[in-house]
Amino acid sequence: MLRVVVCVSGGGTNLQAIIDGIAQGAVCQTELVRVVCNNPGAYALVRAKEAGIESVCVSPKDYEDRAGFEEALIRSVEEAEPDLIVLAGFMVKVPEKMVKQYENRIINVHPSLIPAFCGTGYYGLRVHEAALARGVKITGATVHFVNEGMDTGPIIKQKAVKVHEGDTPEILQKRVMEEAEWVLLPWCISLIATGHVKVENGRVTVQE
Ligand code: GAR
Repeated sequence: MLRVVVCVSGGGTNLQAIIDGIAQGAVCQTELVRVVCNNPGAYALVRAKEAGIESVCVSPKDYEDRAGFEEALIRSVEEAEPDLIVLAGFMVKVPEKMVKQYENRIINVHPSLIPAFCGTGYYGLRVHEAALARGVKITGATVHFVNEGMDTGPIIKQKAVKVHEGDTPEILQKRVMEEAEWVLLPWCISLIATGHVKVENGRVTVQE
């Protein structure tokens, strides 16, 4: 069984997709051992509780400085002894120490086709606002490994989603989640759990 820690900050719909994927048997050989959250008010914590998954909240507000917060964050992940860490709407830059410690063992879902609309400042609804402002006709989602950069790690899978005339950022966000994120993220976890994902020289190969 692949021991997975999921890191969240908000609504937790991607966390829910993973929980449901495991319950339905679509995600194989995977156990959710802990949910780590930086926001005490996040609905994702309710989802974790309802699914019977242990959760830990590490809020930056409870620490004197960034270093203290990062140490606590790393400890809360380490304690659960994960094989894989999944960032599912986690709005915290992963500390460099943690990236090194878990090289090619942290994945993230991003709501665009990287390298479009990614990097510093592009998160959540902002990504969709930028895509609409640019007038792209196709957007999507990406699941990638996390490296020291912002959204620059090796890409595992991407899925395109059409932009419709009259879309608002909220409508587009919902379509990208439904058609891409909630499909891709559980699928990638399952592929990793079953040994189908290899990383070599910063490139991913997926054997299906
Ligand atoms: C998702 O759209 C996710 O891709 C995005 O935040 C949302 C979280 O929703 N993540 C980023 O923008 C990371 N750069 P959720 O809490 O309902 O899963």
